[in-house]
Amino acid sequence: MAAARALPWPDFEDATLEPTDNLTFMRPMKSGSMKLIVTSPPYNIGKSYEQRTPLKEYVRQQTEVISECVRVLHPRGSLCWQVGNHVDNGEITPLVPI
Ligand SMILES: C[S@@+](CC[C@H](N)C(=O)[O-])C[C@H]1O[C@@H](n2cnc3c(N)ncnc32)[C@H](O)[C@@H]1O
Repeated sequence: MAAARALPWPDFEDATLEPTDNLTFMRPMKSGSMKLIVTSPPYNIGKSYEQRTPLKEYVRQQTEVISECVRVLHPRGSLCWQVGNHVDNGEITPLVPI
């Protein structure tokens, strides 16, 4: 992953892009400070940008990320977490119970 650096978003003064690890990005943030979080984490289905891991480890990683999202989320904020199902050897496991 690229080194952390803020990229100015040309059309919006208050927006930046941070090409860094999501937890590294969120950890310094103040609790309850984010009004909207939209995340599309790796699907863990063997896409070119991801390392496929066992379901238990994937759920552990995503639980850590979601917990940090919840910490920084404003009490009246919204969190959109978009993933698919876990598919292994033809068996489909919905990720909803996470
Ligand atoms: C499912 S894709 C997102 C696709 C994106 N929503 C789109 O429409 O193009 C998951 C993305 O998460 C990125 N990613 C993987 N691990 C990450 C991490 N620890 N922190 C931040 N991004 C990560 C991957 O590089 C990949 O681009």
